[in-house]
Amino acid sequence: MRVLGIESTAHTASVGVIDETARVVASATDMYRPEQGGIHPREAANHHADLFPDLLETALSQSGTDVSDIEAIAFSQGPGLGPCLRAGATVARMLSLTWGRPLIPVNHCVAHLEIARVLSGFDDPVLLYASGGNTQVVAYAHGRYRVLGETLDIGVGNFLDKLALGMGASFPGGPAIERWAREGRHVHDLPYSVHGMDVSFSGLLTAAKTLQARGVSKEDLSLSVESHAYAMLCEVAERAIAHLGARELVLGGGVACNQRLRRMVEEMARARGVRTFAPPPSLCVDNGAMIAWTGILAKGAGQEIDVSRSGVLPRQRTDQVEATWRVRTRSAVSPE
Ligand code: ATP
Ligand code: FE2
Repeated sequence: MRVLGIESTAHTASVGVIDETARVVASATDMYRPEQGGIHPREAANHHADLFPDLLETALSQSGTDVSDIEAIAFSQGPGLGPCLRAGATVARMLSLTWGRPLIPVNHCVAHLEIARVLSGFDDPVLLYASGGNTQVVAYAHGRYRVLGETLDIGVGNFLDKLALGMGASFPGGPAIERWAREGRHVHDLPYSVHGMDVSFSGLLTAAKTLQARGVSKEDLSLSVESHAYAMLCEVAERAIAHLGARELVLGGGVACNQRLRRMVEEMARARGVRTFAPPPSLCVDNGAMIAWTGILAKGAGQEIDVSRSGVLPRQRTDQVEATWRVRTRSAVSPE
């Protein structure tokens, strides 16, 4: 079975095709890069609408797939920016109707977890989900994925992007901060905001900007913010693992591309005897293949919807989705 997935929650438009063994047979992606500042939702949506025909053609020719091989169309229904979500949903509905294939709605956050889960081979991992718009610790319990902790303000990637913009980098800023941090020598003190299993980054952003204004080098500033922000993420992930008695941890989201975060998480997990896994960078950032994979799972559980009921859900929460494909799997929290 092959399913085609459409991703368009924010800056990335992507079409992926995956098979039932979770082999990515095609992936075509293009990111909207604002000339100045952050994402403008309508401009990003226009970018996606312009690019989708090409992305679709590329994905289909890459996969060598005849349309008849594609059994369903999955799309990101939420959460995300309304205009961007609608651009992807429109393409998905059109394909579903034209090709006569079922339409499968997918929650973007759940998709980050599911692609990491299948690639890791783990049964019931905790997800540390660190991206631009979201920063959450997620685990399965009682038929749904539950958000155990999350950012109380901005996502960690958003924090890195905002800081990097002020340091002269363009969007996305996380990779620039990572490069500078490699040359850093001195870790300056910054706020460390962990509240139970939640984190916050706005105080860290203000303090980092103050250090920058005082002339701290880009390299030392980057090393300092990475050290603080990623230690906060490790702490909340560790607390979740400890409370659940979990044995497995996966990473997801664009910030999970970061080598320092990966190393810090591995070190923490090793000390607790917990196995970890991070997908390759192309499957950590937003991508259509993870939507297609979650579509395969959801289709198996009968979660197709009629086009007339396929409105996008910009504020959909991870735990609003019934993960019915998981119901027979044992949970770290409560056996079913
Ligand atoms: P979501 O909708 O899941 O919140 P998103 O729209 O933020 O996702 P992603 O592609 O998952 O999109 O993540 C993009 C973020 O990842 C950006 O904030 C970017 O700076 C950050 N990022 C990418 N690579 C790195 C890296 N090497 N180090 C740190 N951050 C990174
Ligand atoms: Fe994402």
